[in-house]
Amino acid sequence: MVAGAQTGTTEGWSSRTAFVLAAVGAAVGLGNLWRFPTLAGESGGGAFVAVYVGCVILIGLPLVLSEILIGRAGRSDAVDSVRNVAKASGISEKWQIFGWFEIIAAFFILTFYSVVAGWVIYYIGVMLGDFFSALGAGEPLRGALAGETSEQITGRMGALFENVPMLVAMHTLFMLITIGIVAQGVTDGIEKAAMFLMPAFFVLLVLITIYGAFTGDFGRAVEFLFTPDFSKLTPPVINEALGQALFSMSLGSAALMTYGAYVSRDTKLGPTAGMIGFADTGVAIIAGLMIFPIVFAAGLDPAGGPTLVFQSLPIAFQNMPAGSLIGLLFFVLVFFAALTSSISLLEGPTAWAKEAFGWSRSKTAWIVGLCIYVVGIACALSLSIWSDVRLLPFWDIFADQNIFDTIDGFTGKILLPTSAFLTAIFVGWRADRKLVDAETGLQGGTLAAFRFLVAWVCPIAVGLILLFGIFPELLTAISG
Ligand code: PHE
Repeated sequence: MVAGAQTGTTEGWSSRTAFVLAAVGAAVGLGNLWRFPTLAGESGGGAFVAVYVGCVILIGLPLVLSEILIGRAGRSDAVDSVRNVAKASGISEKWQIFGWFEIIAAFFILTFYSVVAGWVIYYIGVMLGDFFSALGAGEPLRGALAGETSEQITGRMGALFENVPMLVAMHTLFMLITIGIVAQGVTDGIEKAAMFLMPAFFVLLVLITIYGAFTGDFGRAVEFLFTPDFSKLTPPVINEALGQALFSMSLGSAALMTYGAYVSRDTKLGPTAGMIGFADTGVAIIAGLMIFPIVFAAGLDPAGGPTLVFQSLPIAFQNMPAGSLIGLLFFVLVFFAALTSSISLLEGPTAWAKEAFGWSRSKTAWIVGLCIYVVGIACALSLSIWSDVRLLPFWDIFADQNIFDTIDGFTGKILLPTSAFLTAIFVGWRADRKLVDAETGLQGGTLAAFRFLVAWVCPIAVGLILLFGIFPELLTAISG
């Protein structure tokens, strides 16, 4: 802990493995399984993937390390950790502002994240029912949703959006599970969940990918994901890739700082950050290799957009052997990934409120979770009956977006990059250099590389995303 820290956490991971699994669990989520394939599909595949991987290495990794090290050095929630490090560095405590931004970002991301995770639970229900009816019919290896037409399958999503009680019920269920786990604490809740969910997730991921490789059009998927067509590299694609890298690695949203505060002194942070980044990117790419063979085999459009996973995949599962079982497993896998991420999203604001108000962990988790839940209901309603409600009508980029898209856009385009930018300036330029260097556990060339990336590459690149996110007309001007 840095000298002068007054507040602090008494909780901690019971092992390095526990921390790595929890942090990988935070990173791997709907961002990898739902958003990454969607964006790669829409932006022409390989070109997007190439830029994305570049962003992860040059910007994501140094920022992951920066956030974890602030947490471990500050030994508290996101706000107090930044303040403690600022104090120890002899600079203004006003730097805690980005700790605030991160907590606010986590709060709002979870509001819509939980709604999407609710869709996942709904699809688990659909697939479970289908699997049992396949079993009942004595055909356990048949395709998914055998009796339905493609229109019926695609129609489910719209019908779910209109079905407000169902949508809210699924969101409720997901939030209850998330809160229930966070309320148990770091070792008894978060860590136990990660130690079970992450290994189960990886087993399912490998299984379904192998299945797709054998039954789907694997060659075409590989070609799609790894042959970059550089003519597709427009500024909006680069911008999108950078934003996605931040979101996917859980940057700018308090999760990594908060988890960092629970890491023991003898864990080397540099290599650990590398593992988190590697696992997160690996899962995103494997998710592509899992989803696109199935999509191509069914002759569907890879650029299906946000409904790729929820509409295209079920149609694809219909045409595949054992699709009914694999479809079910697929949505269970997505659910596991979403849950470990939502836990980390709730933990950031919870850790802060617990320190700030002196409440017990369990009380804090329930109160904070309930507030998020209520805003989440507004996100859910904005998919149908509240679709005309505008949160920021005076701001042109959000003027015609519903509540869901406004919160998603505001956090992703404004809050995350702002915090990431400030983190880079703070760690790269303002925080005590000896303290930072010692926390990284890096030496020689890798330390020099880290310092260069965090001080120069991150602020410039992230500053650009921010600028283009706020003034999209600049992008249009550049791309002609
Ligand atoms: N990284 C998670 C995902 O890819 C989402 C997330 C963002 C989790 C920010 C925690 C903090 O789904």
